[in-house]
Amino acid sequence: MDNLYTKDYALTLLNTKKGALNELYAKADRIRKQYMGDEVFIRGIVEFSNICSNNCLYCGIRASNSNVKRYKMKMDEILSIAKKMEKSHQTTIVLQSGEIKGTYDEEIGELIKRIKRETSLAVTLSVGNRPYETYKYWKECGMDRYFLRFETSNRELFSRLHPDSSFDERIECLMNLKSLGVQTGSGFMIGLPGETIETLAENILLCRALDLDMIGIGPFIPHPDTPLGNEKNAYEDDKDMFFKAVAVLRIFNPDCHIPATTAFDAVFPGNGRNLVLQRGANIFMPNNTPKKYREEYLLYPGKPGVDETPEESLDSAIKRILSINRTVGTGPGHSIKKH
Ligand code: 5AD
Repeated sequence: MDNLYTKDYALTLLNTKKGALNELYAKADRIRKQYMGDEVFIRGIVEFSNICSNNCLYCGIRASNSNVKRYKMKMDEILSIAKKMEKSHQTTIVLQSGEIKGTYDEEIGELIKRIKRETSLAVTLSVGNRPYETYKYWKECGMDRYFLRFETSNRELFSRLHPDSSFDERIECLMNLKSLGVQTGSGFMIGLPGETIETLAENILLCRALDLDMIGIGPFIPHPDTPLGNEKNAYEDDKDMFFKAVAVLRIFNPDCHIPATTAFDAVFPGNGRNLVLQRGANIFMPNNTPKKYREEYLLYPGKPGVDETPEESLDSAIKRILSINRTVGTGPGHSIKKH
């Protein structure tokens, strides 16, 4: 059965001609419905700190971007957001920040414990590479899930873009998380400068090989304050590729949670995420970061919702889900995989 999911098959699907796109999207949507149902689970994201010691070449909050005002939210502030989220029927909090090893790891552990003690939320963490022991400690504190993209499966490209980490280290982190029984998410950017459609096919195959619980992918968007500021997305002139990538990802990973990521709305304002939900995705991640911090968490330019409050972002997410005849997920929406 598994020899169905080959690189050749991925490439064939990614090369679908314009006239046959609707068929490809319908197939992905059918598989999504068959395995994941019509519920769209909401994962509220809180970007709790933009302090970062890394210098990833694409990222707007890279350490050496001095145009960013650095912030780190107080634990009490995050906890009170978590409580509000629970009141507004959100069931998962995704805590994301820049990567800074060691310094706040215990504080993060304490925060996880408090959220688990004082709310019923599932906790997803997304704060970068850490040693096995740290992930183990966070798991013991109650962490349910972890999200860490491998960004690209092309080793050469990975090392060019990430002066502070290696591809092998990143994969090891993912394996460690899986071995600890943490629901594990990864993914990649679509259209990094220098990638080819072969890379894209291999990215999708790597997601499948990693046997992930969640997979998040989104178009690369050049940020002017980064070394890639003058580069173009590799599929700049063929943006269908962004959606084809999601559809093929779903076909290759039928039982994974796949979010309609925010970057799609930056490329297609207002309906990018809706389209992604209709072409394979089943998760929406409304931004729960307080408005005053949002300007300072621009990983890429044109990020939507910078002027919104958390309430407005949630409201708009729910309206969008209902507008495409889907329902809002109830319950935590854990992984459906039996590992
Ligand atoms: N364009 C698109 N996505 C980006 N990310 C970081 N910078 C950019 C960019 N310029 C993504 C990375 C990271 C996630 C948090 O944001 O994939 O894992």
